[in-house]
Amino acid sequence: MAWAEDGSLLWLRNPVPSDIALRFDPAMPEDDGYRIDGRTVTARTALGLLYGKYALLRGEQGESHPFFKLRILNHWDNLDGSVERGYAGNSIFWAIQNSDVPVHNNQGSGGGLDTVLISRYGEACASIGINGTVLNNVNASPKILTGGYLKKIRRVADILRPWGIRVYLSVNFGSPKALGELKTADPLNPKVKRWWQKKAAEIYRQIPDFGGFLVKANSEGQPGPFDYGRTHADGANMLADALKPFGGIVMWRSFVYGARHQGEDRVKQAVSEFAELDGLFRDNVILQSKNGPLDFQPREPYAPIFDHMSRTPQMAELQITQEYLGQSRHLVFLAPMWQEFFSYVSPDRLVGIAGVANIGTDTNWCGHHFSQANWYAFGRLAWNPALSSEQIAAEWLRLTFGPVHPAPSAVPCDDTGLAALYPRLLSLLVRSREACVDYMMPLGLHHIFRFDHHMGPDPGGFRDDYPIEWCPVYYHRANRDSIGVDRSSTGTGATGQYREPYRSIYDNLASCPLEFLLWFHRLPWSYPIRQTGHTLWQELEFRYNRGVAEVDSLVDIWQQVRPYIDEQRWQEVDERLRFQQQDARLWRDTCLKYFGQLQDAP
Ligand code: GCU
Repeated sequence: MAWAEDGSLLWLRNPVPSDIALRFDPAMPEDDGYRIDGRTVTARTALGLLYGKYALLRGEQGESHPFFKLRILNHWDNLDGSVERGYAGNSIFWAIQNSDVPVHNNQGSGGGLDTVLISRYGEACASIGINGTVLNNVNASPKILTGGYLKKIRRVADILRPWGIRVYLSVNFGSPKALGELKTADPLNPKVKRWWQKKAAEIYRQIPDFGGFLVKANSEGQPGPFDYGRTHADGANMLADALKPFGGIVMWRSFVYGARHQGEDRVKQAVSEFAELDGLFRDNVILQSKNGPLDFQPREPYAPIFDHMSRTPQMAELQITQEYLGQSRHLVFLAPMWQEFFSYVSPDRLVGIAGVANIGTDTNWCGHHFSQANWYAFGRLAWNPALSSEQIAAEWLRLTFGPVHPAPSAVPCDDTGLAALYPRLLSLLVRSREACVDYMMPLGLHHIFRFDHHMGPDPGGFRDDYPIEWCPVYYHRANRDSIGVDRSSTGTGATGQYREPYRSIYDNLASCPLEFLLWFHRLPWSYPIRQTGHTLWQELEFRYNRGVAEVDSLVDIWQQVRPYIDEQRWQEVDERLRFQQQDARLWRDTCLKYFGQLQDAP
């Protein structure tokens, strides 16, 4: 038997040992933290004891408390069972009806729910401290709020409750109208308010600990309060009032563009939209924003919205699913990217953290075995954002490949040999995100992906039937002479949305870090890069080649670990690494050819 075949989570493949002593201590701080002393776990709450057990398994000792109160996965799962930007099969919650799509572990008891699978998901989440889950796509179907679905959600909530996981839903702002129950969804209309109040009561009757709503409004075609001349605050507050009596929250997304501020530099639009609303939201509304101002690119400067909402609680939304980082085909460990974000946006400013999940019905859960490391890293950072990427990677490697626990006997695993290779595996894991930036879009380039599916390069991409913000050429603006977007005070002024010292650092060409150079500045190809002595063009070539070489090292180290890893898993990872190797070359060659030819043009 290979490990992958049983569908279990690799970092959780062993049962919890029975010799752990559990103790309550009501004098501990009021949260779900724990204290570990030898084989004894002490906590104030039952959930704390559960978390402590898994912490002990990963070798922790001492006391630890969750940093963020809200540690939530966002599943972009559709009710037809597909997953938006999912690369690991179908939804674990919403089964594909009448299809022969295999669902592993399908031992659940009918009703279209795989109860065993969902419970294991709950355990995996609990083992890393995740305490909430949004069960459906932000592009939400209004049907999620109808009776049949609510019954199903109640069952999911019942399965996840023992693991300390609260259930939340994405809701479609236009629901009362779309479901044909009212003629309008205007948030100030009394009938609309009553509709949502009754809906909230109906949900809480079935799920007393329901968490609340996540809302994408007036963004990418979704309905919202603008449709009625109202503001985001009007919309969010109406829902917040409906949830308030039951203790629910509204996570309102700031990912908006192309609506009221159509035509403005896309990366500026969230601040333009929301800054003036600061202070106008109810206290159970949280503004949820992506880490960067554009859209989950391999590297972006932090989103300046985090500098603007001093009177509104905020959450960061990170994307675990690697939509723009090679999806489940590339090995890219995301902890370094998230840590980079926390170095600009202090975790103290946030009340919670959300991660767009990379989980599906694939036997190995995430498509790529190493993508599990990103699920793991998200949970660990949500618990403690001060953990280093190295520590998280080391933990995950040890738990996944041994030798912390005895490996299943059928697996030939020479822990000593593998341990000798750990430092190289670890360093490659930690460098993999930087490698991805290099072979896809170095020096601050962004969004030069193929249309729609976002896999692979398309630097010349332009379609006049699409909004310009979806076209790659809008994001690099390269021509014969120059490349990059002037977002400084002489250009779009995006630098002006940042707090000091970043405003000045980014605005000033001399101080702008190389990794954001072409994000904030437009420069001639011959521009001399002071730090390296290269011209801009040479630097671009250098970085693309460096990224490709890093992937070659990944492939090489994977060859060396072969004797220590079960064959099936080794092969599956190897096959993906080979693809990544080719894809990295495709990125480099396509981009350098395209930009090179532009310069040669007559
Ligand atoms: C990206 C992604 C969409 C998603 C959107 C969002 O644009 O490609 O699939 O719906 O982000 O976060 O709302």
